[in-house]
Amino acid sequence: MAIREIIILPDKQLRLVSRPIEKVTPEIRKLADDMFETMYDAPGIGLAGIQIAQPVRIITMDLARRDEDGELNPRPRVFINPEILSASEELSVYEEGCLSIPEYYEEVERPARVRIRFTDLDGNVHEEDAEGIFATCIQHEIDHLNGVLFVDYLSKLKRDRVLKKFTKAAKLAGK
Ligand code: NI
Repeated sequence: MAIREIIILPDKQLRLVSRPIEKVTPEIRKLADDMFETMYDAPGIGLAGIQIAQPVRIITMDLARRDEDGELNPRPRVFINPEILSASEELSVYEEGCLSIPEYYEEVERPARVRIRFTDLDGNVHEEDAEGIFATCIQHEIDHLNGVLFVDYLSKLKRDRVLKKFTKAAKLAGK
């Protein structure tokens, strides 16, 4: 496994539409391993392939739960070619962040529940209902596969402000 570099706003690759994965090959499993290592190191709860410059439709996620002893139980999950089949009319608001827009958090309103279809690392297709933080996280990550970022849901004023800040930082870093 290897920690890969996470690409940061305003890197144009973040706007790419990722391509479907036709077959779960050893390379795809290796990519998932690297994504987990990169995500845990960051640390973050979700990562899309394009965030490590791999424009393929794969997401890693770990919405670890604390048990009664306060112990954190890891819950690593992989979603390949995930799709949203339906979304609730009811909306919910969560404060979102993104490893590609570090240390920036804003509230975003999204459907409270979604039904998703995805392929797992064994190539099996599943359908599942997502709610709560899982619903928000999977929508945020599927957006990445379509070149959409959570700042796209903010007012133009806020979006321009954050884009300007990150563009300036990238220039200072010589990127
Ligand atoms: Ni993100």
